[in-house]
Amino acid sequence: MTTAPIPRFAVIGHPVAHSQSPWIHHAFGQQTGIALKYEKILAPLDGFRATVDTFFGEGGRGLNVTLPFKEETWTLAGERLSPRARLAGAANTLWIDASGAIHACNTDGAGLVMDLERLGHAPRGRRVLLLGAGGAARGALPALLEAGSARVHVANRSPEKAERLCADMADYAVDVPRSAGALTTIAGQWDLVINATSSSLSAHRPLAVQLSYAAGALAYDMVYAAQETAFLGEARRQGAASCADGLGMLVGQAAVSFEIWHGVRPRIAPVLQALRRHLMQQ
Ligand code: ATR
Repeated sequence: MTTAPIPRFAVIGHPVAHSQSPWIHHAFGQQTGIALKYEKILAPLDGFRATVDTFFGEGGRGLNVTLPFKEETWTLAGERLSPRARLAGAANTLWIDASGAIHACNTDGAGLVMDLERLGHAPRGRRVLLLGAGGAARGALPALLEAGSARVHVANRSPEKAERLCADMADYAVDVPRSAGALTTIAGQWDLVINATSSSLSAHRPLAVQLSYAAGALAYDMVYAAQETAFLGEARRQGAASCADGLGMLVGQAAVSFEIWHGVRPRIAPVLQALRRHLMQQ
């Protein structure tokens, strides 16, 4: 009797050694009873396409894509980009159909919303402030609009970039009011404040914003770190009732990828808890 080979998945990047994706996907596999192999692939900077082709050519079933290749997935998937990936300008999840054609989706925004739901702060009906207008914000905005936020304001150090981001999504989830501006001119009260700038990654240049948090508001930093980020510390001082870092989003985006590949959406809370313990031991 022959047994079916265990399906292969991988994360592809440069560098890729730091990736927690194999750990997370194996944990999901255990939780759902789905057998899988998930590895890390270091692709040469000029060899992304060839590495992807080899992986799928050898029977691989799905890939996660990390820096610096997320934008290259655009040219690779062409017409087979999901609407979310198209709006985000980047994709992080690849798979092939029966004809061998590569499809791509961006699961970052859906992963963020999944984590906000876990935290009891689903965007539906909430006033959302999105800080930043780079790649991370571009991935998040479609999902925040789609999730039925009461309104979304995008604020960025260079306000024209925030305006461009909103304009690019003008036709998307049109019933959700949205606006854009500078970090220095943010007015109003917010139920959800999401830091999608890369400021937390550079400790010497913290984000300087004065905000009015509504009662019970959540401040969310897409970055995760062992120590509380400067943004979250400041949010607490300015009155945010709850604070969360982006580790849950990392697990959430993986859960959405897992669902695309396996047709089952795993629960993120137990895997997140175990991942935090795992990271503390490293
Ligand atoms: P990512 O892919 O992480 O989003 P990016 O596309 O380079 O990275 O975007 C970085 C974002 O963080 C931008 O919105 C940037 O603001 P500008 O567009 O004005 O450059 C923002 N950013 C980075 N450091 C910042 C800081 N110290 N204060 C405020 N905004 C910052």
